[in-house]
Amino acid sequence: MTEKIFIGVAWPYANGSLHTGQLVGAYLPADIFARYHRTVGNQVLMVSGSDQHGTPITVRAEQEGKSPAEIAAHYHKEFLETWRRVGISFDIYTSTGTENHARTVHDIFLKLYQRGDIYKGTMPLPYCPVEGRFLLDRYVEGTCPICGYQGARGDQCDNCGNVLDPTDLISPRCRFDGATPEIRDSEHFFLRLSSYTERLKKWLATDKAHWRKNVLRFSLGTLEQGLRDRAITRDLTWGVSIPLPGYDHKRIYVWFEAVIGYLSASKEWAQRQGDPEKWREFWQDPKCKTYYFIGKDNILFHTLIWPMQLIAYADATGEHYNLPYDVPANQYQTVRGSKASTSRNLAVWVLDFLDRYEPDQLRYYLAATMPETSDSDFTWTDLVRRNNDELVAAWGNLVNRVLTFAFRHFDRVIPTPAQLVARDRMLMQRVEQALRQTGEHLRWCRFRAGLEAAMAGAREVNRYLEESAPWRLIDENRPRCATVIYTAIAAINVLKVALYPFLPFSCQKLHHMLGYKDPIERHGWKVEMPRPGQHLAEPEPLYRKLDPAVVAQEEMRLGV
Ligand code: MF3
Ligand code: ZN
Repeated sequence: MTEKIFIGVAWPYANGSLHTGQLVGAYLPADIFARYHRTVGNQVLMVSGSDQHGTPITVRAEQEGKSPAEIAAHYHKEFLETWRRVGISFDIYTSTGTENHARTVHDIFLKLYQRGDIYKGTMPLPYCPVEGRFLLDRYVEGTCPICGYQGARGDQCDNCGNVLDPTDLISPRCRFDGATPEIRDSEHFFLRLSSYTERLKKWLATDKAHWRKNVLRFSLGTLEQGLRDRAITRDLTWGVSIPLPGYDHKRIYVWFEAVIGYLSASKEWAQRQGDPEKWREFWQDPKCKTYYFIGKDNILFHTLIWPMQLIAYADATGEHYNLPYDVPANQYQTVRGSKASTSRNLAVWVLDFLDRYEPDQLRYYLAATMPETSDSDFTWTDLVRRNNDELVAAWGNLVNRVLTFAFRHFDRVIPTPAQLVARDRMLMQRVEQALRQTGEHLRWCRFRAGLEAAMAGAREVNRYLEESAPWRLIDENRPRCATVIYTAIAAINVLKVALYPFLPFSCQKLHHMLGYKDPIERHGWKVEMPRPGQHLAEPEPLYRKLDPAVVAQEEMRLGV
């Protein structure tokens, strides 16, 4: 029975190049998950897009002397190239700059406004006396009232992850001139989150055993304090407009509208499929499971605020909308022990990496060190070690040895086996188990464990070859040698499937070397015995070993 799987992935701000921390935080796990489910035969819709609004874009535009639209367009294009080169297989990757997105946001805004879940009010806002204007949340800096971090911003504390209001900050200062902001009243629209505390609590208390503990604990903890209503408009002119007259100088707050992108992107996808109502299969069929892949700084927006928006919208329309089935948020990947930083050039840029190395080398390292439950540190030493000792030694060399042997000694075809003996069947059972375990781990978003299970399968094949020594058998017992090589190829053929979600480029290449012409995904998440006599393509090494000198060279590129 096929399942429906919706995968929403965090919308990156289109204000700078993507680094490996962003890739491993959200895009890579989402892609592994999508490829797994597609191979199983499930119906997958994976969406995201560039977040074109918000101060990250306007700040960058100011710095570069360009318009926000130019900045957003430039990075959107670069992101598309990044996904293609590192193999992030979106069903649609759009942006928050489309008409369709604005229409979807306006519809939700108005429906919630009519029901009173959005209401007009005034709020005291920081006003910079030096510049004579209201300051956006993120332009006010000060000390976090919760954890005491001194570099907290008015929208959020990056140290403890809590969402803040600028008036919460202790010793607030204007980011531009350091002046202490005055507090003045400004008219805005508010989201009635306070009325939804109980419904969200009930939802989070039901069937959430599969959620990551820290995600659930953080969300429940925040709910425990009760939700406050939040302003969802801002004094600025870059963003989605307010669909009511008289608010030309205000815009909808980026966080309220960016999450709506999941729905608007699904509608755009359905349009492009030529089946405009098809989005409903993922949003309104309660049997569809919806997953949101994000970094830990986005947790509350996906576990509380977006669900509230969906509940309110469902109430307003009388239609059903699926709430997140899981939000497998990752922790941070650090570089030299600190959070990635563009200004200090403390980040490994994805496109720059791909100029020198293969995408699967990066995917392997990132999947193996994914910060699922705690932060993990990117180091070139570790990358080179895992590439050489694990990816190349346990898997790449195995494939190369077996296929080269078959190519040379068995006439470029998959040899015809004699009777399989107990040892051969045992190997097949082991790799079948590896495939099953990898699948089970991936189903529950345990990516590191999934990769580990597949690699354990590869080590089993290596052990089998050591014991069976086909290089001796070739002269002593050719039929037995054929059986061993056939069995090793059959095992590799199974592991190719288990490793495919992690290493799609090299596994697909291996699939061709094994004589198949179609995509791996068509073959299903199952054991398939290769056909004896099938023609092999000329084997080529799947991965390059990395010279340890790479470490020093790459370390030099990292900033200060
Ligand atoms: N652009 C924001 C960020 O990168 C929000 C991403 S998730 C979204 O933090 F769904 F809200 F867009
Ligand atoms: Zn804090």
